[in-house]
Amino acid sequence: MFAFAKSGKTFLKPSIIGEQSVLLKTVYNSSQELSQIHKRFIHKNTNSPNVLITGSLGQLGTGLARLMRQKYGKDNVIMSDIIKAPKEILKSGPFIYADILDFKNLQEIVVNHRIDWLIHFSALLSSVGEYNVPLAMRVNIDGLHNVLELSRQYKLRLFVPSTIGAFGPQSPRNIPTPDFCVQRPQTIYGVSKVHAELIGEVFTIVNSVAQYYWQKFGLDFRCLRFPGVISADTNPGGGTTDYAVSIFHEALKYGSYECYLKPDTRLPMMYIDDCLNSLMSIMEASDDQLKQRTYNVNAISFTPKELTDAIKRYVPNFKVSYKLDGRQTIADTWPRSLDDTNARQDWGWNHKYDLDGLCQTMFNALQKQYNSPHMSPDFTNNKLNEESQNSFAATAY
Ligand SMILES: NC(=O)c1ccc[n+]([C@@H]2O[C@H](COP(=O)([O-])OP(=O)(O)OC[C@H]3O[C@@H](n4cnc5c(N)ncnc54)[C@H](O)[C@@H]3O)[C@@H](O)[C@H]2O)c1
Repeated sequence: MFAFAKSGKTFLKPSIIGEQSVLLKTVYNSSQELSQIHKRFIHKNTNSPNVLITGSLGQLGTGLARLMRQKYGKDNVIMSDIIKAPKEILKSGPFIYADILDFKNLQEIVVNHRIDWLIHFSALLSSVGEYNVPLAMRVNIDGLHNVLELSRQYKLRLFVPSTIGAFGPQSPRNIPTPDFCVQRPQTIYGVSKVHAELIGEVFTIVNSVAQYYWQKFGLDFRCLRFPGVISADTNPGGGTTDYAVSIFHEALKYGSYECYLKPDTRLPMMYIDDCLNSLMSIMEASDDQLKQRTYNVNAISFTPKELTDAIKRYVPNFKVSYKLDGRQTIADTWPRSLDDTNARQDWGWNHKYDLDGLCQTMFNALQKQYNSPHMSPDFTNNKLNEESQNSFAATAY
């Protein structure tokens, strides 16, 4: 329960920033010096991990950086990508250029920033990957090899997201798809994710199966199979489940939506906060809690028709038409829901958002942006919102 400071060096425990500022006042006379130290203290937390997020300007990275910075300190979390960051991202904390294919540059970053955890988000998603298979192979497979080797060399804790797309038509689909079953995906995206799961796990011993990188090299590999992720503040990156984000925007913009999946195509989905919480939980789990290195995480499953009906509570005259494309073929091979019993048992995974909680949260965020005339007056005068909050609170678990 103490903090101390001496010129040029600072030490503190994470929960004692208040105490630390009192102590600093006694040690430093110059207010300028004090304010510089104060800044460094507040933003860089010496007891928290230093985290690098690759591909951090995508749908998942921006929210994760925000969450981790709140918890671990602003300067502890380095965002990176190969595209230009918007100004508000540049203002929010450290952002650097990092191409996942440039191993030497990644080494420099890990060394210079003393990275402890690596969150590997760079990828070409399922639909985009099918249009550029050679690039998907490079980014998703060669890029993965780079982060594995980097994590081995520098003893990093490595998180690699997997997906429902790592299953295929031979995987069980009439029951919630379990952690261990046949995986024969039919997209380069899915193949690259199975490759990632296996090459990471194969180095560990789990259930007497030789799991390679972990056992042989001591790599701390952690992986979750995410459903389709839905968020209001970032756009999806070209996956098969993207309709479940676009539909909210178009409901408000036009009062209508043309869906590329059949009305009865059931897929597992998850609100972004649940997704990011599951990631934080597995990264913070102790080794003893992890009985395996790749876990399914499940939240809700719905069809386009069921989502449309839920949206109509908010946008009463909402119309959806259907024009299928190649993404239907992909969706037809994917699980309808995931069995995540092991994640719930081993490290206490629990989701919060049900279908109405999801709609309420999405519309609360997006109506501010669109101020849509299609929105129900009951929402605008807060009646719907209150009803939803009551039912959401009652069903959240
Ligand atoms: N979004 C989902 O619904 C979902 C579901 C399951 C799993 N995942 C996985 O989560 C991860 C993040 O997904 P997302 O939705 O944020 O993806 P996204 O497509 O939105 O973002 C991916 C990012 O990777 C970057 N990138 C591409 N090539 C790169 C390279 N050579 N070097 C560095 N960065 C590069 C892109 O610029 C982009 O910002 C992916 O691995 C994805 O497979 C996502």
